Amino acid sequence: MRTQVGIVGGGPAGLLLSHLLHLRGIESVVVEARSRQYVEDRVRAGVLEQGTADLLTETGVGDRLKREGMVHYGVELRFGGRGHRIDFKESAGGRAIVVYPQNKVVADLFDARLAAGGRIFFEADDVSVHDFGDASAQARPKIRFRASGQPQEIECDFIAGCDGFHGICRPSIPGGALTVFERIYPFGWLGILAEAPPSSDELIYAYHERGFALLSMRSPEISRLYIQCTPDEDISKWPDDRIWQELHTRLATADGKWKLTEGPIVQKGVTGMRSFVVEPMQYGRLFLAGDAAHIVPPTGAKGLNLAASDVLVLSRALAEFYASGRKDLIENYSKTCLRRIWKAQRFSWWMTSMLHLFDADNAFDRRRQIAELDYVTSSRAASQTLAENYVGLPMEPVN
Ligand code: APR
Ligand code: PHB
Repeated sequence: MRTQVGIVGGGPAGLLLSHLLHLRGIESVVVEARSRQYVEDRVRAGVLEQGTADLLTETGVGDRLKREGMVHYGVELRFGGRGHRIDFKESAGGRAIVVYPQNKVVADLFDARLAAGGRIFFEADDVSVHDFGDASAQARPKIRFRASGQPQEIECDFIAGCDGFHGICRPSIPGGALTVFERIYPFGWLGILAEAPPSSDELIYAYHERGFALLSMRSPEISRLYIQCTPDEDISKWPDDRIWQELHTRLATADGKWKLTEGPIVQKGVTGMRSFVVEPMQYGRLFLAGDAAHIVPPTGAKGLNLAASDVLVLSRALAEFYASGRKDLIENYSKTCLRRIWKAQRFSWWMTSMLHLFDADNAFDRRRQIAELDYVTSSRAASQTLAENYVGLPMEPVN
């Protein structure tokens, strides 16, 4: 089978890329290792920057987002038993975030691609990529895999590696061509989904001497809550009661007025935390996008948003190549993306460093964190810095 762009991975990055290419008249085929159900049910983040929400809306996949997305004009930082609101209207020029689960973004994109006749292979086994190394060579890049037991080959002009952190595209690039920049944090997040109306209208990031806690939400009926834990925390040691107890403690206000509403826990899991970037994000005619190229700790809610800005840059660069033969945009893909990625890395690392307990014995660090939170919530300049990064820095110009 032949196509213009072969896309490995049908998560948010791969599906959005396929959608954006289609709108520019470029054909693609998506090869996804899992079933549609599995990809849609995977519990992931839920905060869209204004720019990501606008991109989905402007490209025709924003109907349900408009109906069900919850627009937030602020977040709360809670420490010392008190809440402090960061107001985006005042601090981020009226920009906002939209709370809308990644599962729904993915489902909306599947619907759009399949309605437009997009080709997606699900449950592909033994996926491998070939002949992408030399941009000037005659051999065309290929994706090989098995679908329903049958061997398949897709021949294309370019391959987009959108197969996440554990995918095969990044490791298929010869050793030595890539440099990895990485930081692993000495903690993880224990996350739950609970059938309980969110106890706050906006997200609450809480700093507590027992560790960080976060109150988020998926809908007016479903809360998403996290507590800092060890990176290899044994979830079986966390019966529901213990989780609620810890959340009550870490989110409590000193005046005792704020109440956390409990409800049945329908999902729980532990995630490790890392910052990771690979450079460059391209090799010959293979381009890496989204989690395949970079991971952020979830504290700034940037993962999905970075995947969206990567594929926007890539779709524009490929469109320009097909329209005019111009190669400089695709050659600069990695450079263009990395400017924004590193700023989001810096922000995610900073939020993580400010809010988590790194070493319970380090009294200096804890005093410093409190001072930082105090500063961020009392200085206009500092709250603006948080707000403009949180709602999302501008997408990079592509040319
Ligand atoms: N072949 C084909 N598909 C693969 C392979 C493979 N060898 N390995 C992984 N995949 C698929 C996964 O099943 C998944 O559906 O690639 C997809 C990658 O999706 P994500 O991991 O979601 O990564 P990405 O699309 O880059 O999305 C960005 O933002 O909120 C964050 O981490 C969160 O998933 C989110 C990410
Ligand atoms: C989530 O809702 O899952 C979420 C929200 C904000 C974050 C991280 C995760 O910073």
